[in-house]
Amino acid sequence: CGIVGYVGAKPAAPILVDGLARLEYRGYDSAGVAVLGPNEIRLHRDAVRVRELEASLPKRFGGRTGIGHTRWATHGVPSQRNAHPQLGAGGRVAVVHNGIIDNAAQLRAELLADGVTLSSDTDTEVLAHLIERSDEPTLENAVLAALDRIEGTYGLAVLDQAHPDRIVVARNGSPIILGIGDREMHVASDTAALVRYTKQVVHLDDGELATLKADGYQTFTRDARTTKTAVTVDWDTSDYGTDGHAHFMHKEIAEQPDAVRRVLKGRLDERFHTVRLGGLEMDARELREFRRVKILGCGSAYYAGQAGAQFIEEVARIPADAEPASEFRYRNPVIEKDTLYVAVSQSGETYDTLVAVQELKRKGGRVIGLVNAVGSSIARECDGGVYLHAGPEVAVASTKALTNMMVGFALLGLHLGRIRDVSPADGRRLIGALQALPDQIETILADEDHLASVAKDLAVAPSLFFVGRTRGFPVAREGAQKLKEISYRHAEAYQTSELKHGPLALVGPDLPTVAIVPADELLERNLGALQEITARSGPLTVVTHDGVGLGVEPTHVVTVPKSEPELDPLLLTIPLQLIAYHAALALGHDVDKPRNLAKSVTVE
Ligand code: G6P
Repeated sequence: CGIVGYVGAKPAAPILVDGLARLEYRGYDSAGVAVLGPNEIRLHRDAVRVRELEASLPKRFGGRTGIGHTRWATHGVPSQRNAHPQLGAGGRVAVVHNGIIDNAAQLRAELLADGVTLSSDTDTEVLAHLIERSDEPTLENAVLAALDRIEGTYGLAVLDQAHPDRIVVARNGSPIILGIGDREMHVASDTAALVRYTKQVVHLDDGELATLKADGYQTFTRDARTTKTAVTVDWDTSDYGTDGHAHFMHKEIAEQPDAVRRVLKGRLDERFHTVRLGGLEMDARELREFRRVKILGCGSAYYAGQAGAQFIEEVARIPADAEPASEFRYRNPVIEKDTLYVAVSQSGETYDTLVAVQELKRKGGRVIGLVNAVGSSIARECDGGVYLHAGPEVAVASTKALTNMMVGFALLGLHLGRIRDVSPADGRRLIGALQALPDQIETILADEDHLASVAKDLAVAPSLFFVGRTRGFPVAREGAQKLKEISYRHAEAYQTSELKHGPLALVGPDLPTVAIVPADELLERNLGALQEITARSGPLTVVTHDGVGLGVEPTHVVTVPKSEPELDPLLLTIPLQLIAYHAALALGHDVDKPRNLAKSVTVE
């Protein structure tokens, strides 16, 4: 979900709606805004996309202070009454909220017993009532008193007709960022909504609140005022257009050569054939103590982590594995002091990953971040890390951020390897391969027309297999994930080696398989599996390298340039992005905003 707020001299509604449009990738079940009119709070909300909300704004919707929200439903179906802002019973207080209030059911029961009429199914409404019903003389104290009653997580913003000069915001587990303007203040749950108006931002910490007025802000906690330092964000607003592409996803796929150049910039040391990672905050002696690497992330970040773990184990010879952060955090894991934990995230706000990091730190684990969003919650929580510099990613389906995650892991793996047993010659070999990536990605992107025709053919099938083994398996998983996310086709990833142990029973003329077949030491094994598939008349698409004799005649062959074997997965993933994109397009789906998903899941 996304939050925005504005207090200043300008009409608030257009600023709020613009901010929401930039946050829509965080959720788009419903959207709403509330502004302070002369005598009442004006509210406009519905289960619609931001653009429709804007088009349907009432004529009289003036007000120079306001809050807005775009929602990804957790409690209550997407509907007008469940959209935020939520109002108190008297219509005096409006609240927008990200996160989940765990004891909402109990508080709702108490409010009902007190004769309060509840007009939504949301947990957020409880907050609006508690604040509005408070006897506290200041809005700040009323918010604190309400927060004392609730358990759970929140980023929230509050408007009160009785205190029309201000917005009060609070953070606990869900980001709140203040934007400092010229005689105006902004607030949002993500810098993406702020950069058009100001580059000076302040990140609230958990447990912190702030009062925003046109002439400035004051942060505080329950006990005292706090002092914050503003940071400058360097994102350019022009990054937020589609730049002539039909979709953000297409633009972000096309940006990959430049994105990879950025993540490599200044990090390759050609003299010592190694890597410089200035943000790690750990010297070689400390890094040499680690005997394991454990990578934590969710969704595509987890698949990138799986590829990363293989790279690290293969190159640096340190046992490494990846686990979904969403699982790790719930299973009371043993935290080992000689394990280097790595949290990987595009947004830096995924709640499951953030909580995993916090749990690790509480137990004394050392955790670094591979994060794209600078200054995000996960980046700030980690003991240093590697920024991915992919630039803002807007499409829900991750492309350039995922590619840069894989590059980030290669940098980390090479660094860990070169302070251990990796030779200068191997260092040189891998650095050369990293430098070649941007041009090689260009070559794959130039094959788009062909990939689009493959996609149209695959899009017809209701169900598909994606198979790969060892280095190819995370590629297959990511390929299947992309297709599921945006084309809504069932796609299942399997280890090629496991096909014969079960799933081969499903292979036949109606079930196409996409096989990842790199020209590496396992080629012969993979070719054997292709025979097994074609022998059962299974339609086959092979993603491979030039010059590989397949020994079968697949329906489609897609080739990518050869890298060093350890880096092959990165290039093999790129055509699968374009296949998923064109499959979704052929099926007429909303490529950038797939149903039921949100780009950044900041709730449990
Ligand atoms: C959500 C998105 C996925 C994404 C995952 C991790 O589930 O729908 O596409 O991969 O979050 O996001 P992160 O920002 O942590 O990389």
